Amino acid sequence: MNLIEVRDYEEMSQIAADYLVKQVRKNPASVLGLATGGTPQKMYELLIADHKKNKTNYNTITTFNLDEYMGLKPTDPTSYRYYMDQNLFNHINVQEKNINLPSGLAANVEEECKKYEVRIQEKGGIDLQILGIGSNGHIGFNEPRTAFSSRTHVVNLTASTREANARFFDSIKEVPTQAITMGIATIMESKEILLLVSGEEKADAMKRLFSQEEPNEQFPASILKNHPHVTIVADKKALKGV
Ligand code: GLP
Repeated sequence: MNLIEVRDYEEMSQIAADYLVKQVRKNPASVLGLATGGTPQKMYELLIADHKKNKTNYNTITTFNLDEYMGLKPTDPTSYRYYMDQNLFNHINVQEKNINLPSGLAANVEEECKKYEVRIQEKGGIDLQILGIGSNGHIGFNEPRTAFSSRTHVVNLTASTREANARFFDSIKEVPTQAITMGIATIMESKEILLLVSGEEKADAMKRLFSQEEPNEQFPASILKNHPHVTIVADKKALKGV
C-alpha cells in the first residue's frame, strides 16, 4: 500500500481528482469504479471544474458504482444513483449506457447481483476503483465479517453504518436496512485501487489498517494489504494515530 499523506480534505480531493483525470486521459476507455458518501464529494466537484476548463472527455468511459440502497428509486434524492447524477454524471459527458449501479429495486435480487458481476467482467474488469472507508473498516457496504471471497451481494447494514449515513436522510428511520454492494473479491479484482480517507472519525480505522494486523474478515479494509496496486490518500486528521 502506497500512502500519500496530505494536509486536509481539500488536498486529498485535488490529488484524487488529478489521479482520476490522468487515468481517463491515459485510457479514454477506462472502466472506473466509483464511490459515494461524503469523502469523494469534493473530488467530483473538482472533476466537474476540470471538465469545464480542460474538456477532459468521459464519452468512452464506463462506470460501476460500489453499492446502492435496497428499495430506493434512482430518482429518490437519497439513492446513490441520484447522488451520482447530482454530484457528477449530470455535469460531464459520460454516456447513460455506460453508467452502472446495482438496482435496489430488482425483483430478483440474486439475479441482479449476478448480472452486475457479469457486466463488470464483460467490460474487462475495473481499471481504477475509488474507495472510501467506514469507521468500522467497511469498504463498499461490506461490513465486518463479510467473507473475503464475496461477490456482489445483499447486505444488512449495521446500526453504526446506518447512523453514520443518517445525515443524508431526514431521520434514521428512513435509512434503508439493506443494500447491494460489490463483494470484497469483486473490489480486489480491480486493477488499481485509490482509497480516500479524511477526518478524525477515520483515525481508528487508519491506525488499524497500518498496524501489523494480518488481513482478516473482522476488519474488511485489511484485505487491501494483499492488493498489488493500492494508493491511499489520507489527511493528517485521519492519520493522527498512525
Ligand atoms: C458508506 C458507503 C461507502 C463509503 C463509506 C464512508 O456507507 N457505502 O462506500 O465509502 O460508507 O462514507 P463517508 O465517505 O461518507 O465517510
